[in-house]
Amino acid sequence: MRLTILGGGGFRVPLVYGALLGDHAEGRVTEVTLHDVDAGRLRAVTGVLTEQAKDVPDAPAVHATTELDEALRGADFVFSAIRVGGLAGRAADERVALAEGVLGQETVGAGGIAYGLRTVPVAVDIARRVRELAPDAWVINFTNPAGLVTEAMSRHLGDRVIGICDSPVGLGRRVARVLGADPGEAWIDYVGLNHLGWLRGLEVNGRDELPRLLADEKLLGSFEEGRLFGTDWLRSLGAIPNEYLHYYYFNREAVRAYREAERTRGAFLLDQQASFYAEPSYASWDRTRAEREATYMAHNREASGAGERDAADLEESGGYEKVALALMRAIARDERATLILNVRGRGALTCLDDDAVVEIPCLVDANGAHPVRVAPLPGHAMGLVSSVKAVEREVLTAAEGGSRSSAVKAFALHPLVDSVTVARRLLDGYTAAHPQLAYLARK
Ligand code: G6P
Ligand code: MN
Repeated sequence: MRLTILGGGGFRVPLVYGALLGDHAEGRVTEVTLHDVDAGRLRAVTGVLTEQAKDVPDAPAVHATTELDEALRGADFVFSAIRVGGLAGRAADERVALAEGVLGQETVGAGGIAYGLRTVPVAVDIARRVRELAPDAWVINFTNPAGLVTEAMSRHLGDRVIGICDSPVGLGRRVARVLGADPGEAWIDYVGLNHLGWLRGLEVNGRDELPRLLADEKLLGSFEEGRLFGTDWLRSLGAIPNEYLHYYYFNREAVRAYREAERTRGAFLLDQQASFYAEPSYASWDRTRAEREATYMAHNREASGAGERDAADLEESGGYEKVALALMRAIARDERATLILNVRGRGALTCLDDDAVVEIPCLVDANGAHPVRVAPLPGHAMGLVSSVKAVEREVLTAAEGGSRSSAVKAFALHPLVDSVTVARRLLDGYTAAHPQLAYLARK
């Protein structure tokens, strides 16, 4: 079985390869093709993978190429984990927004829109190539903003593209842990858009245990989301929001913390990874990864007085390589797993149309991921989901037709951008910062 990884020179590829190395079952991946536009990064990561494979006799063979078509031909699965504009691009996404006094973040708000405007045309091009060269392949999209990018690709690949994120799984595991439940046995009622979802229940043996958590002040304050959002707010919501909702519910504090920080997250990672790529080795990759995880969402935590991330919570963050592998296995071996994924909702969320990609529990088998019908969202959540989906649709229109007015609308209609004037300035700032946005420049 052949897996192609687009963005094969990326920092998280050793995580994925490490997970593959632990899989010895029949039908496992035997060949990995790494694709990247940067040959130097490809060499660096290939070297790390070689170190990882050293003592593993059945390690999947690794092949690297800078030719997209070559990488796609013959692929059974394609993981897409690209970063258009690199971390320097991410740092600019954050900086331009913060300079306007609005949230500058990888996937949320103005930063996420800029990232989407840069990424969608590239993702669509990849989807077209996959359709032509590997029409039977399954595409697993990690590329952020994952929901939006998955929707862009689904217009060309239908349900053969599935978006993934590790944050709902991490949240589910944390909630299960504090409730003393086995996450593998629990049914997790989580729904929304990517990085914009709510855990509304956790059922064990048909019984919802979430009310017990909400009623227990000590338990509720004992894990990441309790500290981040505060127990009062969780009780008011009657649900546990994804960590990324901190940017909405505590926007002012988050923006302030980001503006006061010495460096944005992207700038921090850029420095950190520059030293890894300069002298790549498994040991330096592993150190860098641990530091990266330990500092994840540090600004938000600081802004809310949540302090350092708890060791137990730290263990439960991340793991996106496990989600990817679980999905791939369920499809390849018809294992029938239930996973929270980004797929076209087909009416599962009544406030959105059938083609809207949502993040939702899915039954997965050899025929792909099938969204489960879930209870409707409460009005406040429906409102956010509908506005952000409308923003995503403006991004897709802008990216498809090079429409500047749609791009302005995307920024202006986002709930975290508070003025049309600011939206126009954001677009000007981003087109000046990113060569990839030349298609939106004033004619
Ligand atoms: C989580 C999210 C990803 C996101 C990452 C950012 O894993 O699910 O979508 O890209 O965090 O982490 P970073 O260390 O890059 O700030
Ligand atoms: Mn994610």
